[in-house]
Amino acid sequence: MDAVTDPVIAFRSLWAAAREGVPETVGDAVALATSDAAGAPSVRIVLLRGCDASGFVFFTNTESRKGREALDGRRAALCFHWPHTKVQVRVEGRVEPVTPAEADAYFASRARDSQIGAWASDQSRPLASRFALLRKFVDFRRRFSGAPVPRPPHWSGFRVAPTSVEIWFDRPHRLHDRHLFEKTDAGWRRTLLNP
Ligand SMILES: Cc1cc2nc3c(=O)[nH]c(=O)nc-3n(C[C@H](O)[C@H](O)[C@H](O)COP(=O)(O)O)c2cc1C
Repeated sequence: MDAVTDPVIAFRSLWAAAREGVPETVGDAVALATSDAAGAPSVRIVLLRGCDASGFVFFTNTESRKGREALDGRRAALCFHWPHTKVQVRVEGRVEPVTPAEADAYFASRARDSQIGAWASDQSRPLASRFALLRKFVDFRRRFSGAPVPRPPHWSGFRVAPTSVEIWFDRPHRLHDRHLFEKTDAGWRRTLLNP
């Protein structure tokens, strides 16, 4: 780790190792923290769907709580924990919408019933009953029967463009290994932190 100068490259290899032999809900799961205009924080799990130099990508309903908070252009934080590889990664940065082409490509790769589910769910809004949701699901199934399911206008993705990344390795005696990378005009600056 001492030779690492780019935390995103390091992250990609740690992520690949963490995904091996486990369900996606373990390898790709990340806690996403956002905040409202008053600064009140909220956190939930999403699945990481891509990561490169431009940032960490997830997909969601843009009218959900997280979607509304992300669309307001505020900052967000991510926290990965892979107990099986003994690694934690924290990311902070600004949230940007992905392009419509990126959202279309990912939506097209989803299972058909998940695509229909995206139409049926007014994510984060009150729901009268589970039956009402299932009825909507069945209605959309019928509506799109025999045709490709288009991406709903309220469904897309976001990218957390990192300004800081901290990579943490579990070490004996609680003397864990913490590497903080902060983005500067000259590139990434690395600082070792006390555990
Ligand atoms: C393992 C796991 C993966 C999840 N992945 C996503 C996801 O990729 N996108 C998403 O919108 N919600 C995902 N959820 C549901 C969210 O945690 C959350 O309940 C939902 O998005 C509503 O959040 P909000 O009201 O804060 O916007 C996932 C939940 C779990 C437990």
